[in-house]
Amino acid sequence: MSERAIEILEATRRFGTKVAVDGVSLSIQRGEVYGLIGPNGAGKTTTFSMMCGYLRPTRGTVRVMGVDPFADGALKGKIGVLPQDAMLPGGWKVGPLLMYWARLSGLDAPEKEARTSLERVGLMEAWGVDTHALSHGMAKRAALAQALMGRPPLVLLDEPTAGLDPRIANQVRQVIREMKDQQTTVVVSSHNLQELEQLCDAAAILDRGKLAQAGTMAELTAQGAEFRVQVAHGTVIIPEPPVPARRHVGADGGRDAPAHPLRRPGIPARGGHQPRGGPPAADRGAHPGRLPGPPAGRAGAAAHVAGGPPGAKRNPRKIPGETPGRLRSPGSGW
Ligand SMILES: Nc1ncnc2c1ncn2[C@@H]1O[C@H](COP(=O)(O)OP(=O)(O)OP(=O)(O)O)[C@@H](O)[C@H]1O
Ligand SMILES: [Mg+2]
Repeated sequence: MSERAIEILEATRRFGTKVAVDGVSLSIQRGEVYGLIGPNGAGKTTTFSMMCGYLRPTRGTVRVMGVDPFADGALKGKIGVLPQDAMLPGGWKVGPLLMYWARLSGLDAPEKEARTSLERVGLMEAWGVDTHALSHGMAKRAALAQALMGRPPLVLLDEPTAGLDPRIANQVRQVIREMKDQQTTVVVSSHNLQELEQLCDAAAILDRGKLAQAGTMAELTAQGAEFRVQVAHGTVIIPEPPVPARRHVGADGGRDAPAHPLRRPGIPARGGHQPRGGPPAADRGAHPGRLPGPPAGRAGAAAHVAGGPPGAKRNPRKIPGETPGRLRSPGSGW
């Protein structure tokens, strides 16, 4: 059996003329927690969608647990997926919905699976609650519970802690650690770099669809290997900084980009990824669950990834809200 849980070779995914993922190659070992890092629009969700067989790469190959994820039923029982901003169907109570999904997945004891998973995410009290009555964080945990049912050997989590309060986010991180202890392979994306640094064995950094760097956490955080991802978008107004402004040159050697965190307004929730056990994945050429048109403000965003030269002196300016850690972005997000 291959040691690799996921192997992506030169994968490109286009949407019309838009290249969302551009010639990315990745290798994820079985049993590791692997991070996907990148600013908004970097191609993380598109990569996830190719891994779980929802989208077919336009070019290149994706192998998951040794099979083509797009083949019908190839990943049944092998993979659990938490889509980004998953939306639960209405007209269901949480417990029965999870039991329904467990049955669709062919699990032996649907009620036991549903209860155990809800317990793992600390949401047993929502068993009899209508899905439409859940808060954002509760809905997210219910969707996470769905991904954990049956203890699949591979779990893909697209921003599992986004929008959760700190206590619950910590609980989700604990679930990820437990999965690792049980040799589950976990692929996780997050904008919280400290979180990824703590959780992951290895990670890939995507930028505008391309692989900027990949390696073990030790390699990515090693002295001399620190990187910065900086997003500049349209006209950015820079308030007077309390300390002399730090200027930063993008990897393309272009003009300085302003060292200012881009704070994006919330993107409306989107969902519609196929839950595990759902109907065979169909590539409709559309981003799963995306609302019509790209979110305002995304077009024209310019991101710069700078890999500092080995041994270069770095003194990243602490920005309020920035998550401490050696993996750094200019703001609390990107
Ligand atoms: N269905 C689609 N049609 C057109 N463009 C798309 C589609 N899906 C994704 N894209 C584009 O592909 C790029 C990558 O999007 P993706 O959602 O994969 O990024 P992401 O890294 O997950 O971003 P975020 O951090 O905001 O979730 C973006 O520029 C996005 O606008
Ligand atoms: Mg995404």
